[in-house]
Amino acid sequence: MRIDIITCLPKLLESPFSDSILKRAQDKKLVEVVVHDLRQYSTNKHRTTDDYAFGGGAGMVMMIEPIDRCIASLKEQRIYDDIIYMSPDGELLSQPLANQLSLKKNLILLCGHYKGVDERVREHLITREISIGNYVLSGGELAAAVVSDAIIRLIPGVLSDETSALTDSFQDGLIAPPVYTRPAEYKGWKVPDVLLSGHEAKIQEWRHTQSIERTKARRPELDKN
Ligand code: ADE
Repeated sequence: MRIDIITCLPKLLESPFSDSILKRAQDKKLVEVVVHDLRQYSTNKHRTTDDYAFGGGAGMVMMIEPIDRCIASLKEQRIYDDIIYMSPDGELLSQPLANQLSLKKNLILLCGHYKGVDERVREHLITREISIGNYVLSGGELAAAVVSDAIIRLIPGVLSDETSALTDSFQDGLIAPPVYTRPAEYKGWKVPDVLLSGHEAKIQEWRHTQSIERTKARRPELDKN
């Protein structure tokens, strides 16, 4: 899979991809993440990528031309499954959406800033819009990193334990059960006996019950049981 991220603040995207699972996924060539500086596609001498809004009002608007030029140069090189605009009014990111996107081959994520992008970008260049939650961030960069992380960790081979993405919270509409590690007792706080019993079937049953109870208590809107 390849993810191209278009931004006017490329530095914001350096650290999320240079550590841990996302770095390893790139090192193993399971994903290629390429960050594009929108300024490089600006044609004016100050390399600006935004301008005042027609009709007035506070806040700058990202111009269509650099975005169009950047997307066009990428589309010359490969076919994209989706060109996604990160926006608080997009479709809410969910586990099923991450699962669906993890099956794609080439994605573009466009990060918005300021007051947003010229509406013609959304009308003519974008194929879908994604929000990571009902709140407004300063820009789409952190949202693009969140979406990329949610997708990349699902690519086969990225997680060392192949089954662990399948047992994540939300994969089966349930919250993940609690986990513990050594010591078995700390300050008198004990690990549930069943987890120390070595009885695999009982452990699985306990985990499933915990998942159902937690989902009912914490996220009742997910509960389908
Ligand atoms: N850009 C600004 N806020 C955002 C959000 N909540 N989700 C995605 N992109 C955004």
